[in-house]
Amino acid sequence: RRPVTTAKLRRMKEDRNPISVITAYDYPSAMLAEQAGIDVILVGDSLGNVVLGYDSTIPVTLEDMIYHTKAVTRAVKTTFVVTDMPFMTYHGSVDQTLRNAARIMQEGLAKALKLEGGAEIVPAVRALVQAGIPVMGHIGLTPQSIHQIGGFKVQGKSSSQAEKLVEDAKALEEAGAFAIVLELVTEELAEQVTKALSIPTIGIGAGAGCDGQVLVFHDVLGYAGESHPKRFVKTYANIGDTIRDGIRQYVDEVKQRQFPAQEHAFRLEDKAPAPTHL
Ligand code: KIV
Ligand code: NA
Repeated sequence: RRPVTTAKLRRMKEDRNPISVITAYDYPSAMLAEQAGIDVILVGDSLGNVVLGYDSTIPVTLEDMIYHTKAVTRAVKTTFVVTDMPFMTYHGSVDQTLRNAARIMQEGLAKALKLEGGAEIVPAVRALVQAGIPVMGHIGLTPQSIHQIGGFKVQGKSSSQAEKLVEDAKALEEAGAFAIVLELVTEELAEQVTKALSIPTIGIGAGAGCDGQVLVFHDVLGYAGESHPKRFVKTYANIGDTIRDGIRQYVDEVKQRQFPAQEHAFRLEDKAPAPTHL
């Protein structure tokens, strides 16, 4: 497959070819996502919740995002990798925003950055785009502002909220964003935004009218997340159960002295020394 680019993603919208996006945070998960044919990997700051065990994305640092982006970009060849700019790393001076962005691009080797917010972050988006960095917007429910929003509620239900969302989307497109995530908005509004833009919309909890869909890796695979997944999530596997069962068997076999068996051990009379790893 040819490497996925922003131009390809825009063409996919024009051709009504849905864009598949999943988050990934490390080498094996990114490798498997690419092998499965994913178009875009998002190194989301949701890693704060699902990998680091925080209860929001607010504690996630620039160092965290760089560390995980490095692991993901080492694993993929053709997948387009987008990394979240974490909390408060794009709200200071444009200079500071550019310095933070440069670190994720140069050290993490991301292909693009995602920023939460609408019209208020247009100066940051413009500066990044002028620097040659593709920017993905993210509006609707924006988890970095959860304390201001006051909870995980569906956005854009009132007509004034809906109007603002459409204006924010247009402002981001105008500022040069190559795509926009719509999180937790009504299907009607997501459809309206999608039709109003020439750049693709990527929905999560935003219904079927978007140009693409994104879900969190751990939610898709039932990997040690919540026992009651959110309504907008579909769980396609239960790897948490598989992992727990596998570890349980290992523990049992160690306790029963069934592992290691003869074939796992090295003995003096072995002819050639077996490799000790891999
Ligand atoms: O961090 C994340 O996983 C995200 C997606 C849910 C869009 O921002
Ligand atoms: Na995020």
